Amino acid sequence: MTTAQTTELDVQPTPLALLLLGREADPRSERGVECPGDLPSPSDPDLVARARAAKEKLGDKVFVLGHHYQRDEVIQFADVTGDSFKLARDAAARPEAEYIVFCGVHFMAESADILTSDDQKVVLPDLAAGCSMADMATAEQVAECWDVLTEAGIAEQVVPVSYMNSSADIKAFTGRHGGTICTSSNAQRALEWAFEQGEPSATKVLFLPDQHLGRNTAVRDMGMSLDDCVLYNPHKPNGGLTAEQLRDAKMILWRGHCSVHGRFSLDSVADVRERIPGVNVLVHPECKHEVVAAADYVGSTEYIIKALEAAPAGSKWAIGTELNLVRRLANRFAPEGKEIVFLDRTVCFCSTMNRIDLPHLVWTLESLAEGNLVNRIEVDKETEAFAKLALERMLALP
Ligand code: 13P
Ligand code: SF4
Repeated sequence: MTTAQTTELDVQPTPLALLLLGREADPRSERGVECPGDLPSPSDPDLVARARAAKEKLGDKVFVLGHHYQRDEVIQFADVTGDSFKLARDAAARPEAEYIVFCGVHFMAESADILTSDDQKVVLPDLAAGCSMADMATAEQVAECWDVLTEAGIAEQVVPVSYMNSSADIKAFTGRHGGTICTSSNAQRALEWAFEQGEPSATKVLFLPDQHLGRNTAVRDMGMSLDDCVLYNPHKPNGGLTAEQLRDAKMILWRGHCSVHGRFSLDSVADVRERIPGVNVLVHPECKHEVVAAADYVGSTEYIIKALEAAPAGSKWAIGTELNLVRRLANRFAPEGKEIVFLDRTVCFCSTMNRIDLPHLVWTLESLAEGNLVNRIEVDKETEAFAKLALERMLALP
């Protein structure tokens, strides 16, 4: 693994053009299809009252989950908020709720469907809320990769570890091949577990789809070297790697990334340190390796929130994660005298997380309150069985 490979991120094409808000479909994407409803107008002054009334009418029948990157207008209606790991655990916490409304993105709703009972229905308020990172690993590409590893004679030594930010198909592949899911809160434990598997033990991990989380965890947290990692490019024959490179590697990283966290750069870090002397730089592990290496602290969204809760009054923080969360934290902690800024000068929302807005939430809740099940996310039984195996391995990690 060379530094030159990490900068390939800059030239990797975005595989999908952005879809108009809830109005179009891309069948190659994990993000689903067109929103079928008549959405209320965003300028309707009664949206908050309408959401509240529909939620009250549904009572215990509905459980609303909200990821930290959701808009304030949506998060105010969440029964629980959290990072991907917390929400995966919380999804199953209300077995009496008939409807789980997931304010997050498609792969999170799929995971909730896998982890909840068959009679609970998981609903995503806008079916176009996908994740560009999850779209970077398709089932066909990953099956082809496994063939490449088999050809190189190493498949038996490889344990797949897939980031939560992947489609149910990829999670099922992972379960089928003895691997586990991880999130940004438990990636190190998942990798340690993976390297203990096999006979006598696994010598390699196929980490997908986020190259940065895989590299950062292996190198920063577990003491591996950059040379222990190779980058598998699904758009090149044999992943762009020789059999020898695959045999020598400990970490085979899938060439995927988050388009939001991928925007932070060494320049953003240098710039904020110059602008705000004494600032603490705190970034999400989906950021590039050089950004993580230059930061003071690194962790998942839940970690970021806890770090700021524990921070002393008067401290200064530059945060490298999605803007909805950073803005919310800046407002929350300003009265305590904690100065919190966004790491980059340019605005950087996750456009797909942002697709879930108040009109979509109102439409969803009102439809459910009228007995119309809309935007259901349902994973087929076979995929569910193997994906659940991989998710349960994650939930059982020490
Ligand atoms: P976490 O929720 O695990 O921090 O991940 C961030 C993210 O990008 C979710 O899509
Ligand atoms: Fe996907 Fe990145 Fe958005 Fe998370 S922040 S949903 S990883 S594009």
